Amino acid sequence: MGFVILDLFLVLTIIFLLLVLSMIWPPDSPWAPWWRTGDRQIRESLKLAKVTKKDTVYELGSGDGRFLIIAAKEFGARGVGIEIDPLRAFISTLMIYIIRLQDKIIIKKKNFFDVDISKATVVFVYLVPKALARLLPKFKKELKKGTRIVSYRYEINLPLKKYDKENNIRLYVL
Ligand SMILES: C[S@@+](CC[C@H](N)C(=O)[O-])C[C@H]1O[C@@H](n2cnc3c(N)ncnc32)[C@H](O)[C@@H]1O
Repeated sequence: MGFVILDLFLVLTIIFLLLVLSMIWPPDSPWAPWWRTGDRQIRESLKLAKVTKKDTVYELGSGDGRFLIIAAKEFGARGVGIEIDPLRAFISTLMIYIIRLQDKIIIKKKNFFDVDISKATVVFVYLVPKALARLLPKFKKELKKGTRIVSYRYEINLPLKKYDKENNIRLYVL
């Protein structure tokens, strides 16, 4: 019995350390899945894109879902999150049900390259440059003219509309 408890303790310690390390590793490392946008940057992104209740915000790689939750609660927007990681897709879906936003936000546990994003009026991304470069043809093919794209931290190869240097947020309009 003592060994079982010790084993369990060791496993939990390793999981905890991995979680902490995943927040420290740079975001373009495959070991850094838990990089998240801060709440302030989320609100500033939504303001920069002038999001309103008329918008449908797509978040590509929606993580824990906070961006879409704030977009729905504070800006009235509808949200579609696409998240490949089952754990994060599950946690965000659960949160959305707990705070009863399921009529406004859906989370798709999918690869965003396989999802049609043409209904978006606003797209939010916090993704590494390699993924953004791969997404560019999809943006150009599927998104309507006038769709706003907000990128936290990394540039997209599109004409820049606005840049919030302090928060490292870029706005592009197709
Ligand atoms: C840097 S995190 C950002 C999370 C969240 N958007 C935020 O700003 O807090 C990138 C997220 O994209 C997800 N992701 C990466 N590639 C993806 C893909 N091809 N399809 C769907 N999600 C993906 C990762 O699992 C991770 O949750």
